[in-house]
Amino acid sequence: MTAAIIDGKAISKLLRKEITQDVEKFKAETGITPGLAVVLVGEDPASQTYVRSKEKSTIKVGMYSEVHRLAAETSQDELLTLVDQLNNDPKIHGILVQLPLPKNIDENKVIEAINPAKDVDGFHPVNAGRLLIGQDTFVACTPYGIMELLRQEDVQLKGKHAVVVGRSNIVGKPIALLLLQEHATVSICHSRTADLGAMTRQADVLVVAVGRANFITGDMIKPGAVVIDVGINRVDGQLVGDVEFESAKEVAGKITPVPGGVGPMTITMLLKNTLLAAKRC
Ligand code: GUN
Repeated sequence: MTAAIIDGKAISKLLRKEITQDVEKFKAETGITPGLAVVLVGEDPASQTYVRSKEKSTIKVGMYSEVHRLAAETSQDELLTLVDQLNNDPKIHGILVQLPLPKNIDENKVIEAINPAKDVDGFHPVNAGRLLIGQDTFVACTPYGIMELLRQEDVQLKGKHAVVVGRSNIVGKPIALLLLQEHATVSICHSRTADLGAMTRQADVLVVAVGRANFITGDMIKPGAVVIDVGINRVDGQLVGDVEFESAKEVAGKITPVPGGVGPMTITMLLKNTLLAAKRC
């Protein structure tokens, strides 16, 4: 069997078209242009690429984009002052501080300084807590994008066993909660799980977000499973996921490729969250 490919690029394109129309309608009705501020500290090349892409995508859907590029030597106080300005700027509905931050800056302090109503990343403890107890919130963009992929692909979750490999605050924990909300039975595994294969082989839906190239191989996948690969790893100049695609696609029922699977959805959901933030203000 060869798995069907979940085309995140195509789904993303479709959703961005809808978002563009929604933005236009919102602007016509309220006279408000949704605005996103992205803050980048330092010169990490991957972060620079992500931020450029966020800027371009924001403008393309008809929103206002503001990018603050700060030197690597920026102090925590300077960054907190900027966050405070953005919290109080009526043009700005969403704030995203690109991670990772330089080592002299406490990421948690910065995230906690963002007004939760503008936290389109969904990283603020208030928003993470709201997700935990099932309240309306901003859902972090990558897990939100995964749920949208599963919805677009008509993947049934109720009563199914979903196994999440990875326990980060950004992906592993929130995706587990979202799958639980959709009535899946959820197991959370990680790099120290004993006999990981025995767990992953039980998964009807397998989400892998560990940040290790080709960590999950075809023999660890249940035949017919839906496999969502969140990993983006650079190996010999090529992007590869956390799932070994060649062996996995012979076993899985559906699988996301890297690149072109989960990746394109992340910015799409950021745009959706920014529009939502503007609508809520
Ligand atoms: N760095 C890598 N992914 C993300 C993300 O989704 N949000 C932020 N703020 N930084 C990131």
